[in-house]
Amino acid sequence: MKILYSPASPFVRKCLVAAHELGLIELIERVDAAAHPVKRDLSIVAHNPLGKVPALITDDGTAIFDSRVICEYLNALGDGHLIPAGGADRWQVLTAQSLADGIMDAAVLMRYEAAVRPEALRWSEWSAGQLEKVIAALAHFERLAPGFGERVDVGTIAFGCALGYLDFRFAHLAWRDRHPDAAAWYRRFGARDSMIATRPPAA
Ligand code: BEZ
Repeated sequence: MKILYSPASPFVRKCLVAAHELGLIELIERVDAAAHPVKRDLSIVAHNPLGKVPALITDDGTAIFDSRVICEYLNALGDGHLIPAGGADRWQVLTAQSLADGIMDAAVLMRYEAAVRPEALRWSEWSAGQLEKVIAALAHFERLAPGFGERVDVGTIAFGCALGYLDFRFAHLAWRDRHPDAAAWYRRFGARDSMIATRPPAA
């Protein structure tokens, strides 16, 4: 199978980390794609009308997106240990994934605002609104982090990738200063082979 991919995307990274943790990474060919909020990459659109990465193309040509569905697919293909099948744990893990995805969404929108939107059209209050989401979600994860222990699931993977993206694009936010428990957890989680192998280009 193939994944349409940008090495900077935290959503792509989440899927690749999941594939590593499930022992499936060797089955996935990475195909470079130029996801962009304005200039649509037709090589992505041919598989995903939204023009977003990641999109997974299975061996029979089926396109699977977005990152949450790809992680579900990979989990089902592997031994299933990244997403609990039922019970309270399932909702806890999936909700952690949603919250971490929300950090990534807001951070990617801030990045586009700063790097893509013409300067004359920028709206600082809009960026501040995105930052508020990041800050509130980090505060929530700071309370959860002591309970994460050595857990490796789609929730902790998504949180690790969200923190990695903040380090990559928003190092000046210095998120560790106000989140010591999340920082201690990320020191261990970020040292996993899956996280090291998927680091964004300049991180
Ligand atoms: C980035 O360059 O930050 C980026 C690229 C693709 C998707 C998301 C973010």
